[in-house]
Amino acid sequence: MRISREMAARWVLLGLWAACITSPGGASLLNICMDAKHHKAKPGPEGELHGQCTPWKANACCTGNTSTEAHQDQSYLYRFNWNHCGVMPRKCKRHFIQDTCLYECSPNLGPWIVKTDSSWRRERILHVPLCKEDCEEWWEDCKDYVTCEENWHKGWNWATGTNHCPWGTMCRPFKQVFPRAADLCEKIWSDSYRYTTAPRGSGRCIQMWFDPAQGNPNVAVAKYYSWGGRAAADMAWKPVVGASSSLPAALLILLPPALLALI
Ligand SMILES: *[C@@H]1O[C@H](CO)[C@@H](O)[C@H](O)[C@H]1NC(C)=O
Repeated sequence: MRISREMAARWVLLGLWAACITSPGGASLLNICMDAKHHKAKPGPEGELHGQCTPWKANACCTGNTSTEAHQDQSYLYRFNWNHCGVMPRKCKRHFIQDTCLYECSPNLGPWIVKTDSSWRRERILHVPLCKEDCEEWWEDCKDYVTCEENWHKGWNWATGTNHCPWGTMCRPFKQVFPRAADLCEKIWSDSYRYTTAPRGSGRCIQMWFDPAQGNPNVAVAKYYSWGGRAAADMAWKPVVGASSSLPAALLILLPPALLALI
C-alpha cells in the first residue's frame, strides 16, 4: 500500500515535470496571428503576396488582397490618408507600407500582442522592439514631410470617411513633431513599437525590412522574447500570456528531480 502511494506520487511529479519541459508558456506566443481587423486566424503560406509584403509569403497572417491594399492610398483596409498634409514623398511612404506589411503579415509578433478595447480590433501590439536601422531610416526618409498629429491613431477628423487634420492643428515637419527617431517609431502608433539600439541581424529586435532568401529573422527574435528574454530585457513589462515564460528554464528542469529525490 505504502509503496504504491509512493509510486503514484512519483508518476504525478514526473508528469508535471514533463509538462513543464515540453509545453512551456512561451510556445503559445510563437507563430500566431493577432485577432484584429484583417488578420487570418492562423499563419500559412501565401503565394500571391504583393510588392513590399512578399518577404512574408512563406508564412503570413495577411492575405494577398490585404498585401495589395497595403500599398494603396486610402485603401479599404483602414481608409487612412497618408497625404493629410500634402502628398507624402515616395521615399517616406515606403516605410509606412513596410510598417503595414509587418503589422498585417508577420506571424512573429506574438510576444507583444495584448488585448485591447477597440471597436475595430480585439488585440493590438505593444512595445515591439524595432531594430535601430529600421526606425532611423524611417525617420531619416520622412523627416522633411509634414504632419499635424503626433499619434496617428487618434485626433483626426473622420467626417468625410478618411482622416483629415482637424481645425486648429498645423502641418509641421516630421522633425519638429518627432524630434528624434525614437519619437516617430514609438509615438506614431501609440507605443506599438519600442525604439532599440539593437541592430538588424542581432536576433534581439524585430526587422520591418528583411531579405527572405535568408529566411525570416523575426522567427528567432520572437522565440528569444517568448522564453524569458523579454523579462530579462525589461523587467518592467509584465508577461501578457503564459506567466511561466518568465521562470528560468533551469529551475523548471532541476526542481522536480530534486523533489523526487526527497520521496
Ligand atoms: C480586397 O477585398 C475587398 C473586400 O472584399 C475589395 O473591396 C477590394 O477591392 C479587394 N482589393 C483587391 C486589390 O483585390
